[in-house]
This record gives sequence, C-alpha cells and structure tokens, in this order.
Amino acid sequence: MDLFHSINRRKSCRKYDMKSLNEEQLLEIREVIKEFDILNNTAFNYRLETKIKGKFLVEAPHYLIISGKGEPGELENIGFLFEHLILWFDEHDIGSVWLGSATGIEENKNDIIGIAFGYSTESVHREENQFKRKKLKEITNAPDDPYMKAILYAPSGMNLQPWYFEKSDDHVLVYKQKLKLPFSKIYKLTDLDMGIALCHYQIASKKFNKEFHFERKEDNFSKKGYVLFGEIK
Ligand SMILES: Cc1cc2nc3c(=O)[nH]c(=O)nc-3n(C[C@H](O)[C@H](O)[C@H](O)COP(=O)(O)O)c2cc1C
Repeated sequence: MDLFHSINRRKSCRKYDMKSLNEEQLLEIREVIKEFDILNNTAFNYRLETKIKGKFLVEAPHYLIISGKGEPGELENIGFLFEHLILWFDEHDIGSVWLGSATGIEENKNDIIGIAFGYSTESVHREENQFKRKKLKEITNAPDDPYMKAILYAPSGMNLQPWYFEKSDDHVLVYKQKLKLPFSKIYKLTDLDMGIALCHYQIASKKFNKEFHFERKEDNFSKKGYVLFGEIK
C-alpha cells in the first residue's frame, strides 16, 4: 500500500459514474478499514449508504456515514483513520470526497461526517501544481521539510487548512487555528481536519522510516491566532 504516492495526487471527486461497486469490492473496503492505524481509542461506527441527507452534497453511488459517541478525541481519530481510506481510494482509482454535513436518511444524532465514493467519469488524480493551498510558510516554520509538503496537500473542510506545524530538534508542536467569523459559527469539524493532517504526517513518517507518536496537549496562549493541539515525537 503506497499511500504516500496518493498524497501527492489525490483530489476531491465530485463527478461520479453512478455504477455501483460490486459486493466483493465493498467487502474489501470494510476489511481495509480494520487495518488502518488509529490516533486514539475513541469509539466510532460507520455504515454504507446509497442515499443521504445534508448540505453541499455530491451525487455518488456510495456513501460512508461515520458516527461517534460524543467522546473527546473522536473527531481527530475519525479524520486520521478515514483519511487513510481516502488515500486508499485514490490508490485504487476510486474517487472520493469528505462531506461535512452528511447524515443518513434515517438520521442518527451521533452522525458526524460522510464520505462519497465511487468510480468517476474523469480522472480522480491531479498534478501537484493543481493543488490550491496556502503557502508552505503559512503552515510551518520548516517549509523545506518533506513532511510539511505532505501536510500541505491534506484536504480540509472549506479548504481552510487550519493547522500550523512547528518543528524543533526533537519534536513538532501541532497548532490548530482559531477560526474567525463567519467560519467559527458554521464550521465545527476543525478537530477532524487536524486528524487528517496528522494522517498525512504519519504516512510521511512511514515513508521515511521514522516512528510517529502523537499526544494531545492544550494551551490557549502560546501562539497568536492558534491553540496548541498536540505534540509529535
Ligand atoms: C471535514 C471536511 C468536510 C468537507 N465537506 C465537504 C462538503 O460538504 N462538500 C464538498 O463538496 N466538499 C467537502 N469537502 C472537501 C473540501 O472542500 C476539499 O477537501 C478542499 O476544498 C480541498 O480540495 P481537495 O480535497 O481537492 O484537495 C470537505 C473536506 C473535509 C476535510
């Protein structure tokens, strides 16, 4: 599984061939989800659907609806684990897109996020120069570090890229941006975005044969406009 390669070419797919994947493929997806690393031990569930509700939806043959239990840490864990699946889809030429306000038709108050997926009528990959992103120095103090390019390409809700990775000799401090109005009112999935960025960092660590240990840490004062989210060692 070379998910690192997929980091550099993945894109959100919003045009699907409505032909369903077969049962064997859907079983493979269920099996591969069990193999991906997690960030913490919070509980989550997911279910496969063909119809969903929500805003900013994309018509697709399949959806995953992921739910939690309201536990602290579950959002970043879901972002971390299921971003592996998003990259796995890319590796298998299957298009996908996170859907921030998706819920099942039979609504469950614990539904957190959806993912649309399926084959596409167009390429599900992009060239590196087609990523629309902040400048590297806006998301890190170490723009030449190859790990940081992996984070730069991570998807985020409304493409806000709400992270800053501050590298020192023996650790990296991970900061979460404090959203300003109107985003702070309407967007509640920043922790999930943080998990997605950490997934890209972890995949880069594997690529460069380095261990990845992440620990949550919090403070409100160490960086203007940001809160401390955690530390990578
Ligand atoms: C948590 C989250 C929620 C998202 N929600 C939606 C959505 O509701 N509708 C949509 O079309 N795209 C959604 N996206 C996709 C983002 O708009 C997209 O990742 C971002 O613009 C960057 O583009 P890229 O994924 O093509 O690199 C979401 C992405 C994330 C990570």
